[in-house]
Amino acid sequence: MASGRPKHRDGSRRYHDRVSRQYDSIYEDPYWHFHDELTWRLIKPHLPRDAGAACADLGCGTGKWGLKLLKSGFAVTFIDHAAAMIEQTRAKVESMGPRAKRATLLAADIVDLPMVERDSMALTLAMGDPLSICSDAHAAVREMHRISRPGGVVIATADNKLAALDHYVERGNLDALEEFARTGRTNWLTADERERFELTTFTPLSLRKLFEQVGFEVLSLTGKSIVPVRDNKLLLEQPDAMERLLRIEAELSRDPAAAARAGHLQITARKPNVAAASE
Ligand SMILES: C[S@@+](CC[C@H](N)C(=O)[O-])C[C@H]1O[C@@H](n2cnc3c(N)ncnc32)[C@H](O)[C@@H]1O
Repeated sequence: MASGRPKHRDGSRRYHDRVSRQYDSIYEDPYWHFHDELTWRLIKPHLPRDAGAACADLGCGTGKWGLKLLKSGFAVTFIDHAAAMIEQTRAKVESMGPRAKRATLLAADIVDLPMVERDSMALTLAMGDPLSICSDAHAAVREMHRISRPGGVVIATADNKLAALDHYVERGNLDALEEFARTGRTNWLTADERERFELTTFTPLSLRKLFEQVGFEVLSLTGKSIVPVRDNKLLLEQPDAMERLLRIEAELSRDPAAAARAGHLQITARKPNVAAASE
């Protein structure tokens, strides 16, 4: 992260295209296993009740979450603006036999999804912060609302502005800190300038408001992770570490204020049913 605007609008697409082949190996360690388990436990209670319901995986990357939905029998639309990520997902989908028929793969930008039918999705996931990476988070959330069926649920993650403050304090640059505190915008820096992209961070309140403004009812907003486990991986080497840490996270998350110290925020929101919306 750093300040200074990236010059290339499609930096994220270029970056994610380049890393698509190694992408899965980046996340092969005990910390990410813990993080994924935490994520899945927050998703599971919201899986659609009707077998075969339509679901979307926005910013799907190599398909981690959409593939789980496809394996559970749902029809899944995978969307990513990096075509190389979509190709990685396609290879995995095709190895799944007849279930592959229930998958749709699209290289598209989540801020504008005219090819996805309105009111169609029972569950939409946007994990790994495509909301923070995209050019217009408000437009992306509006699209999530448009494609959700009444009663449909959206679960999305985003970068936490309050956690990112530490980076600016470490740099000791008051101008940069002031600018970040005002805008919530920072950059993903890579060696190749053409792969740099801007990130929009959110406080728990600003993320909640973003969803409420377009008409969602917010069901929960959780920090991921509240305990900064990544700072000391020794924690994960101890007996039953995964279950014990997940229990601590669950307990701490009962206080909504705990989200403020996590690196990422995960929001779960529902599009109201037609009757409720018109009341
Ligand atoms: C950190 S990765 C997460 C991948 C996957 N969801 C996961 O959790 O493993 C973020 C993904 O979002 C995609 N992405 C970012 N902005 C996007 C946009 N505006 N439209 C579509 N995809 C986007 C990137 O290409 C990348 O594959």
